[in-house]
Amino acid sequence: MGLFGAKTSSTQPRVIGVASGKGGVGKTSIAVALATIFAEEGKRTLLLDADMGLANSQILLGCSIPRHMGHVLEGKSSLEEILVQVRPLLHLVPGASGVKSLGALDEQTTHHIIRAFSSLERPVDVMIVDIAAGISPSVLTFLKACQQQVVVMKDEFSSIADAYGLVKVLAEDLSLSSMALVPNGVESQLAGERLHANFSKVCERFFGEGIRLGGVVHQDSWIGEAQRRQQPLTTLAPSSRALLDIKALAHRLYGTKLGPLSGDTQFFFERQITGTVLA
Ligand SMILES: Nc1ncnc2c1ncn2[C@@H]1O[C@H](COP(=O)(O)OP(=O)(O)OP(=O)(O)O)[C@@H](O)[C@H]1O
Ligand SMILES: [Mg+2]
Repeated sequence: MGLFGAKTSSTQPRVIGVASGKGGVGKTSIAVALATIFAEEGKRTLLLDADMGLANSQILLGCSIPRHMGHVLEGKSSLEEILVQVRPLLHLVPGASGVKSLGALDEQTTHHIIRAFSSLERPVDVMIVDIAAGISPSVLTFLKACQQQVVVMKDEFSSIADAYGLVKVLAEDLSLSSMALVPNGVESQLAGERLHANFSKVCERFFGEGIRLGGVVHQDSWIGEAQRRQQPLTTLAPSSRALLDIKALAHRLYGTKLGPLSGDTQFFFERQITGTVLA
């Protein structure tokens, strides 16, 4: 890799948002697993807990957080100061657990959080953003600030309908090529692929383009066990079905070529621009 190639990979983070229409479908489980997988594979990784109301990535990772995003918003801490090192290459950016007023962020505050990342000086290869469910303005702003959007969905009517609702509003501003669908908690690979094929067909009909299959994640009791024991799947059950599935998802996401930057506020905007110029 040439000088510019090396510089680009150390300065231009790939930012992946994990979202869903309906809540409780596995976003946090998948976001935490993705972050630990990337870190184990040698990538300098940040996990941003952007589900401010019910921040729970730190619970899954079993770490305590002295400070959180609320302190950054109040001007009491810098972003660097609230980072919690979880693994040699993994840092958590804690949301604001228990701070009610941050439950539904207004747009201005959301932009403030996104822009705060411009002040970080540490090199970052990947950032995973665990985003609240739904289609509130803050959710949409966070998602558009990411370069890739993972839409997690279960095989239930309300989950499918709400995932469709989310993709529909995102498609007003983003190309479906930056999104990836993840059927989660399915009984078989085939069931997941069918779910994706049907969903993508509807997207093709209404938006003129299909949605990529990020990967199928099987129903696996190790996910609940990891939550109960507050240990990531990578250490608790490295050969579990769910972890193998999420590894395949991680590799597919990382292997996807990124499109041009959208016009929305981006995480690490300056670095993304520099990377684009140098690439
Ligand atoms: N593939 C799976 N197999 C078995 N259980 C799963 C799977 N994915 C998620 N779960 C379980 O589903 C529940 C919800 O998961 P999780 O908290 O990750 O969802 P979420 O989308 O982040 O929820 P919220 O919208 O409340 O933030 C948890 O109890 C988790 O253990
Ligand atoms: Mg969650």
